[in-house]
Amino acid sequence: MPAPPTDSRSLEGKVVSVRPSGGDGVILRIATSTRMPPLRAARFFMLRREDRLSPAIPRPFSLYREVGNGELEFMIKVMGQGTQALALSTPGTKLRVVGPLGNGWPTLSGGGAPWVMLAGGIGSAPFHMAIEQALAGMDSKPACKPSEIFYLYGAAKKDLLYELEAFQKLGVPVHTCTMDGSHGKKGHVLQLLEELQSAGKIPKKVRLLACGPEKMLEAIELHSRKHALECWLSLETLMGCGVGICNGCPVPTVPEGPMGAWPNAKCCVEGPVFKTDAITLCGAH
Ligand SMILES: Cc1cc2nc3c(=O)[nH]c(=O)nc-3n(C[C@H](O)[C@H](O)[C@H](O)COP(=O)(O)OP(=O)(O)OC[C@H]3O[C@@H](n4cnc5c(N)ncnc54)[C@H](O)[C@@H]3O)c2cc1C
Ligand code: FES
Repeated sequence: MPAPPTDSRSLEGKVVSVRPSGGDGVILRIATSTRMPPLRAARFFMLRREDRLSPAIPRPFSLYREVGNGELEFMIKVMGQGTQALALSTPGTKLRVVGPLGNGWPTLSGGGAPWVMLAGGIGSAPFHMAIEQALAGMDSKPACKPSEIFYLYGAAKKDLLYELEAFQKLGVPVHTCTMDGSHGKKGHVLQLLEELQSAGKIPKKVRLLACGPEKMLEAIELHSRKHALECWLSLETLMGCGVGICNGCPVPTVPEGPMGAWPNAKCCVEGPVFKTDAITLCGAH
């Protein structure tokens, strides 16, 4: 049975700061009782407040950034009770922090097909560190040049393009789109990708990374199959335990694919990043 990563721990945490982000989100900065080792982008933590404001079940969040003094930042969209409680925290609020969990993005090496990162709204959270790590070089592989990464950032409307300026400062091409046309191209990220490819600004042969709403990821999965592109999805399924016990996070696998004959993978311990040759959100394979 897949197990949680050996470096994950249940730690005491403390809120350092909370600041608003976008129309409905916050950037939560925390300090933990034990300093984390360097972490791969797209790994996640289960967070809850230690007081009764948080539900008993912690909530999963991708690491957004590692900042000075080993502090961690999370980009959180307020959805319900768990995210509301975290957003209402103040400096010093005590947290239970379980992590780091999950696998993270693959090694983002330079020299091959360019990487196209497709982010939908709060699905942008695992991409800031991904770009930093790709530019710095990972796992002793060649680093990416800024021209080998394209960040395509979509949302329903302008104020759901969380931390857009921080992404623009990373030095890679950033293209935006919104469904209501309030920022960038009007439409969704796949339309933006196809338009940029038709205009010769992005090559046809690319490697895709995507995180965002499930419908967006289904469409990207289909696109990757149709065009035979390598593609990794970071999934934001509902989760109970985050460590492989509750079976609350099943993801359908490709029959007889790389994950074997088992019909479902556990998002928390086998993901949250999956290659589309291994899992299928839309039933196509
Ligand atoms: C690996 C992973 C990483 C994640 N990273 C982030 C992140 O960086 N930032 C962030 O804001 N969120 C992230 N999420 C989603 C986040 O965990 C949920 O939004 C959160 O659990 C909602 O908790 P809540 O108590 O506020 O809402 P709830 O009361 O649990 O739910 C409120 C409403 O939101 C819906 N909902 C809850 N979770 C999700 C979801 N995952 N997708 C779609 N709808 C949902 C519920 O069905 C309900 O309608 C991540 C999820 C996973 C699995
Ligand atoms: S969340 Fe419990 S098994 Fe994945």
